[in-house]
Amino acid sequence: MNPFIWLEDNYYWNDETHKVVDENGNVFEYKDIPQKIRERLKLLGLIMPNGLDKVLYQNFEIDLRIKEIAEKINEDYKDIKDPLILVGVLKGCFIFMADLSRYLRIPHVIDFMSVSSYGDKIENDGNVRIIMDCRVNQKGRDVLIVEDIVDSGYTLNYLVNNFKSRGTNSVKSATLLDKPKGRKVDFEADYVGFELTDNSWVVGYGLDAFEKWRTLPYIATIKRN
Ligand code: PRP
Repeated sequence: MNPFIWLEDNYYWNDETHKVVDENGNVFEYKDIPQKIRERLKLLGLIMPNGLDKVLYQNFEIDLRIKEIAEKINEDYKDIKDPLILVGVLKGCFIFMADLSRYLRIPHVIDFMSVSSYGDKIENDGNVRIIMDCRVNQKGRDVLIVEDIVDSGYTLNYLVNNFKSRGTNSVKSATLLDKPKGRKVDFEADYVGFELTDNSWVVGYGLDAFEKWRTLPYIATIKRN
């Protein structure tokens, strides 16, 4: 297989040697790589911070998928009367929420809430508490809860039921990632970006590991020692 990945201009990434080369085969040390090529390497996850394993979803794939989800939501809510309330669950949702909301063409408003589920723990023990509630009055309104990931399912299952008990007209959920292997409660989101096939810990695009790597432009797995 051709190991060269085109970056920009005459610059290529050699995926076998993990070096940047030009079309004449000249090899560049990192200090000699132009800034815009360095940025491209970071965006594509070809140069990753230590501790990460591999890129699962590239920035452009995520963008395309979010557009697709937004189109589905535009269609499903096309007859909506009052603006749809998008409720993002902090903090992981913030990048997905920003993208999704900007691709929506239906009337919508933005709100956020914060729950305690994991904190510094590795596992969700099912004890979900609302720390900061959203502000928009949800009575009689259509609500779409926006998450970065569904793992055990405890958080979204709790929130969907909680919102249903508030006299809402409808409650649905959208998640960028779904990890069915982690499920501890029967729950399915209405809109799913990508399904993770194993139990790896993923970071980037809003997801963190102990607050690291949240703002990576791609989604990657972390190395396990
Ligand atoms: C993550 C994620 C969801 C929840 C999903 O939040 O953002 O809210 O876990 O997991 P579950 O399906 O097992 O309930 P986290 O507590 O890591 O906080 P964060 O969003 O601030 O990173």
